[in-house]
Amino acid sequence: GTTLGASAAERGRYFGAAIAAFKLSDSTYVGILNREFNSVTPENEMKWDATEPSQGSFSYGNADRIVNHAQANGMRIRGHALLWHAQQPGWAQNMSGSALRSAAINHVTQVATKYRGKIHSWDVVNEAFADGSGGGRRDSNLQRTGNDWIEAAFRAARAADPNAKLCYNDYNTDGINAKSTGIYNMVQDFKSRGVPIDCVGFQSHLSNSVPSDYQANLQRFANLGVDVQITELDISGSNQAAVYATVTNACLAVSRCNGITVWGIRDSDSWRTGQNPLLFDSSGNKKAAYTSTLNALNNG
Ligand code: G3I
Repeated sequence: GTTLGASAAERGRYFGAAIAAFKLSDSTYVGILNREFNSVTPENEMKWDATEPSQGSFSYGNADRIVNHAQANGMRIRGHALLWHAQQPGWAQNMSGSALRSAAINHVTQVATKYRGKIHSWDVVNEAFADGSGGGRRDSNLQRTGNDWIEAAFRAARAADPNAKLCYNDYNTDGINAKSTGIYNMVQDFKSRGVPIDCVGFQSHLSNSVPSDYQANLQRFANLGVDVQITELDISGSNQAAVYATVTNACLAVSRCNGITVWGIRDSDSWRTGQNPLLFDSSGNKKAAYTSTLNALNNG
């Protein structure tokens, strides 16, 4: 293939980008998006603060802009993210206990129902595990509603949109470490008890290197019977092109790795200001990392 999306498709995978609704009027941006990518993730537009700014009052304008663009151009959509400790609306930040639990599950039901049948994969729960050596949950208002909040969210999402793949998504889980093992244990438990989970997202915000056991980590999750996806890839540093190829090859080597999403299109679109971690420069030109990624998709 001659584009990321076409080359990934030849390998039975998608190649996506996180996009912002307000950039869909930028012709350079849309030109690259439509040429190269066959999947999109709304970078902010489906988050809780964006979709339910006041309780029970839903706001889908920007999310719909992205969904409509994706559907018109034959792109898959990764929904991101139904529940997360960050980017909650103020009203939810001020809630706790059973009131928060009810509000959170209602949020999952409403948003997943709104987009039923349109979402390839949903990040049902994002970043619920703590960093460091403990391997446990992150403290948050959601966690304080009870340890079963994650499975309650997955059950509600399944009921609302039975055909979407339901993912758990996190960062600093790219190698085999205490955090990724905590998630591994949760997925194993969910599978054993019939809690609906279909996939695990590995954000892969990387700095110049990738853990040597990156592929092995993807594979151990796949061996539990879930798909794996690389969901927010960006890589800083002088070794960037080689690391992009390594990550791409790891996904290709794991049959249950569905695809790769980069977290933005041009360096100027990245949340990592000044780090130039993406595949296109700020003018929209292909970088060495683009070429190494494309070559890996075609030859890896
Ligand atoms: O839209 C408001 C605008 O109205 C306001 O005036 C302005 C002033 O701060 O903020 C705007 O919101 C910003 C939003 O992006 C939309 O542009 C927020 O401040 C800003 O914090 C927010 O950043 C996003 C960040 O998540 C929030 O935590 C980034 O764009 C987004 O790339 C980033 O994405 C996350 C993933 O969702 C989860 N994994 C990590 C990843 C990187 O942090």
